[in-house]
Amino acid sequence: MSAIEDYLQRHGDEFLAELFELLRIPSVSADPDRAGDVERAAHWVADKLAAAGLTSEVVATEGHPIVYAESPHVAGRPTVLVYGHYDVQPADPLELWRSPPFEPEIRDGSIYARGATDDKGQMLTHLFSARAWIEAGGGLPVNLKYLIEGEEEVGSEALAGFIAANTQRLACDAIVVSDGGQFAPGQPAITYGLRGIAYFEVTVRGPDRDLHSGSFGGSITNPALALVRMLSGLIDEAGRVQLPGFYDEVVPLPDEERRALAGLPFDERQYLEQAGVSGTWGESGYSLLERRWARPTYDICGLTSGYQGAGGKTIIPHKASAKISFRLVPNQSPETVGAALAAMLPEIAPPGVVVEVEPLHGAPSLLVSLDSPRVKAARRALEHAFGRAPVMTREGGSIPIVATLREKLGADTLLLGWGQDDDNAHSPNERFSVADFHRGIRASARLWAEL
Ligand code: BES
Ligand code: ZN
Repeated sequence: MSAIEDYLQRHGDEFLAELFELLRIPSVSADPDRAGDVERAAHWVADKLAAAGLTSEVVATEGHPIVYAESPHVAGRPTVLVYGHYDVQPADPLELWRSPPFEPEIRDGSIYARGATDDKGQMLTHLFSARAWIEAGGGLPVNLKYLIEGEEEVGSEALAGFIAANTQRLACDAIVVSDGGQFAPGQPAITYGLRGIAYFEVTVRGPDRDLHSGSFGGSITNPALALVRMLSGLIDEAGRVQLPGFYDEVVPLPDEERRALAGLPFDERQYLEQAGVSGTWGESGYSLLERRWARPTYDICGLTSGYQGAGGKTIIPHKASAKISFRLVPNQSPETVGAALAAMLPEIAPPGVVVEVEPLHGAPSLLVSLDSPRVKAARRALEHAFGRAPVMTREGGSIPIVATLREKLGADTLLLGWGQDDDNAHSPNERFSVADFHRGIRASARLWAEL
């Protein structure tokens, strides 16, 4: 192991420089104009895996390409599938970035760029750790397969088909995912639950053009007003989602788990500071961690209507639209939520407008067992790299394909993340601390040995 540690020490700057190369590629999967960049990022990842001595390929799909690679086979060793994504969320609002999102730079010990933590920086830790074993350890102590996709941030549609068609090829004993975070700075975590998601665009249409709000106001339905009333009707004062049947399939949290969550060293003040707000909100009757990780939610992610320019403009907008999401927990399904939404909104819509509900993506939640020797191996690897034993957590975010991977491949799933809650994932000024990047590589290198 010390040859590996040595190698990691000596190559730290090189790893950073390579991460910077990938961060310079604006692989925004949601933006059709960036499709060429997304493809370029896929080739960059495939080339790096090949250069480290793996067989690697870029698989074209109906959507963005998938990168697949395998390390040289070592007989009698377990096989680990590493899943990650090279696509990123859109960078806007651009004016809030202190440095351009695709021109990475280091400030105060952190790498600033879109994708730094989610997920380019974290994903590459598993590539560099393999390179260390191949170049300085006489070869990997496990067989590694890499499945790195370009559609995680838009729902992983193409990947589901690839997995279904390649279950033999992807066969493995464990799946490793690093697309989440630590529990708190310096406090590593093994995550055993992810929420699912059901995401929709809702459009309300009224008159066939914007109308003068003096001449028409008060006499016809305003689509913007109709939309916000409908949207706010989806949740009550106590934070309970008002979709019929929404809670029917929700599995109540076992008392034992509630106690375990309550026992985590959670610092609410630090959390609020990281979020940059002064108070909490959420469904009554549940602790903050329960609400964040283990209860379903409803959010408005985007809201658009009417005049957005300087000064005022007195109109009744002809349409209004919103992007909304529901985070889901066991055993809710995105399809059921979608059906309930599509039935409810037209029913509560006022006269004079038409409502459209378009599903954008969905994924079920995930709970994995912590009761396996592989989880113990991960525990030892994290303790080695962080100098502290990991805590067991859930996460509120979603990684749509993990449920499919586990179901189709039937392998133990290890959700290990190196990021922080205030890394600004999906926000302006996304970052990844240089120390976390290096700790992540060390944890990963150790993980291969422990497994
Ligand atoms: N890295 C996140 C998932 C995540 C977020 C894990 C927070 C742990 C904590 C991932 O890249 C992501 O953002 N996923 C999307 C999926 C969606 C677009 C289908 C999400 O959760 O919003
Ligand atoms: Zn993300």
